[in-house]
Order: sequence, then structure tokens, then C-alpha cells
Amino acid sequence: MSNDGVNAGRRRFLVAATSVVGAAGAVGAATPFVGSWFPSAKAKAAGAPVKVNIAKVEPGQQMVAEWRGQPVFIVRRTEEILANLTKIEGSVADPESAASVQPEYVDKKTRAIKPEILVLVGLCTHLGCAPSFRPEVAPADLGPDWVGGYFCPCHGSRYDLAGRVYKAQPAPLNLPVPPHSYESDDVIIVGVDQEKA
Ligand code: FES
Repeated sequence: MSNDGVNAGRRRFLVAATSVVGAAGAVGAATPFVGSWFPSAKAKAAGAPVKVNIAKVEPGQQMVAEWRGQPVFIVRRTEEILANLTKIEGSVADPESAASVQPEYVDKKTRAIKPEILVLVGLCTHLGCAPSFRPEVAPADLGPDWVGGYFCPCHGSRYDLAGRVYKAQPAPLNLPVPPHSYESDDVIIVGVDQEKA
């Protein structure tokens, strides 16, 4: 009854909120968003697919969307980032995601449908904090070997730019890749599986 009206209103709000978060994420402000993350119970339960327009995400940048009340990180990877994934294969715990969550239609190593577009659930597999997007190479606080990745501020877990966790971290698994598909080059649907070819 009157619940329907309330829920429809919430849905509209959520769609608006998602695009605002996306815009903030696109300029690299991924971390502050953690403190203001208030998914509604409705969104958590619904599990509805979410359409995300990635047209404005520049190479090397990330945007943050929302799906099932969870942050979803979307990164446009450069050739350099992709080349680094191969270089550090020996340093990550599960390079082909044998034990980690990813749909079978994503490439085992790049963990993506299209190599240049990475889509991850942005929750650390240790205790669920949102890892920070740290695409810089060798920043002072992460050391000379850092080639860009995610750093979890809670207990220091490190992931690469395919969401693969490094060896000997508190986090046991790679960041999950959610089910997703392409409606067009610029529109990803998170929550709907890519059709099998
Ligand atoms: S929650 Fe990320 S390292 Fe503990």
C-alpha cells in the first residue's frame, strides 16, 4: 500500500546517489566514500542489476558504483597497468583466481571481459573494509615495488590492479568480480551475466 510509494521514492534516490558517487570516484576520491556509505535495507535485499555508464572514466582512473548495497570499483586500465599484471604474477597469492570469486566468462589473469575494464566488488576479503585505489607507481608510503593497486587501510592488505591479493596478506582471497555484462561499449550492467558466446 503506502509502502510502495516509499520504496519507489527510495529507488529514485538510490539511482541519483549512485551517479553522484560515480562522479566523485572518477576523480579518484574513492576512500572518503567509505564513511558515508549508507545502503538502504531495500537496496541490500533487492539485488537488482545496476546500469553504469563508464564513458567518463579516463585511462588509469576509477569510478565507484553501487550494487546490492556494495561498492563496485570500475577501472579503465592502461597498457602499462596490464603489462604490470604479468610482471607481478609471482607475487600474488592466487594469480588465476582458482580459489577466488569471479564469473567463468572473465579472463583468468586479467579478471575482466575486456582487458582494459576492470570491475570488482570493493570490499576487502579480510574483514570487509573498502580498499583504497592507489594507482601510482612506487609512492613513498607503499614502497618502490608498488606498481599500482588497492591498499586496505584497516589491516594493510595489498591487491594489484586486477584485485588479486599479494602473498602473505591478512586478506585470504582476491577481490570478487561480480557478474556483469556490456549493454554497449559505455554501459555495463552489474548483476547480469554476460551471455555465453
Ligand atoms: S579488512 Fe582489509 S586488511 Fe583487514
